[in-house]
Amino acid sequence: MKLHGKIALVTGGASGIGLATAERLSSEGVSVVIADIDEGNGKSAADRTGAEFVRLDVSDASRWSEVTEDLTRRLGGIDIAFLNAGIATFSARGAPGEIMAPIDLAELSDEAYRRIMGTNVDGVVLGARAVIPAMEARGGGAIVATSSVAGLIGFPPDPIYTLTKHAVIGLVRSLGPALAPRNITVNAICPGVVDTNILGEGTAQRARDAGLSVMQPSEIADAVAQAVTSGESGRLYVCLPDRDPVHYEFAPVPGLDFEPDRALEAGPGGS
Ligand SMILES: NC(=O)c1ccc[n+]([C@@H]2O[C@H](COP(=O)([O-])OP(=O)(O)OC[C@H]3O[C@@H](n4cnc5c(N)ncnc54)[C@H](O)[C@@H]3O)[C@@H](O)[C@H]2O)c1
Repeated sequence: MKLHGKIALVTGGASGIGLATAERLSSEGVSVVIADIDEGNGKSAADRTGAEFVRLDVSDASRWSEVTEDLTRRLGGIDIAFLNAGIATFSARGAPGEIMAPIDLAELSDEAYRRIMGTNVDGVVLGARAVIPAMEARGGGAIVATSSVAGLIGFPPDPIYTLTKHAVIGLVRSLGPALAPRNITVNAICPGVVDTNILGEGTAQRARDAGLSVMQPSEIADAVAQAVTSGESGRLYVCLPDRDPVHYEFAPVPGLDFEPDRALEAGPGGS
């Protein structure tokens, strides 16, 4: 896909990786719509990048319908959806010597659990569901979801965040082939540590002090642009410091006698 002249919706575009991606896409001639729950920062991000702003809580299914129907009516549809809004549950204030404080599952409130599932999982599922017709109205499109390296490994400080990012990986790997006949690509980006607000106060510096490399959001925006333009689908772009994004491949499951693409060939309900 060429970027110039396309229409993109960027969730979580008020800050961090979403904002950097909105800037990057705008600079390539894309008409960007920033969708975020944070109206103040969202509006100023839109002003800075020449984008439009819509207030959207990505966990709200009915708002997703309103937003995508409105964009289809006014702009003719959506070509690119960067489903990126996300939150974490770990606490930035760890004990001395800790980069971050691990969450204690026994102490996790219902509200905090529902909020992270609503944002990180529902936000991607509902977003993908809502943009499919808006993309079909334009003849196809590109969905990119933000997972994390924590979607590929166990990350003990925040098991619930890790759960949500694994969920995104499963969705992308399955939706990629499923949406290919509709000319829609679906890919995930899996960044390591990026210096944004999600880390909480002081975490990026503590990570650097501990000898870890911390990336800038613009580096992840490059990977998003690559995922959109590649034409490939179902790919997982691992973004780590000082190296180009690489495709992560899962090892085959020993003894599994099943090829996922054959399931699609048989059609729904086929064998
Ligand atoms: N920063 C990192 O180290 C890192 C690493 C891997 C993956 N990620 C992922 O990158 C994505 C972007 O995060 P970031 O690092 O830029 O953090 P960030 O906090 O700077 O940006 C997140 C944005 O999402 C918005 N948001 C939160 N809940 C929302 C909701 N319900 N509806 C709409 N918008 C909502 C916030 O207002 C904010 O603008 C997240 O999915 C995060 O999990 C971040």
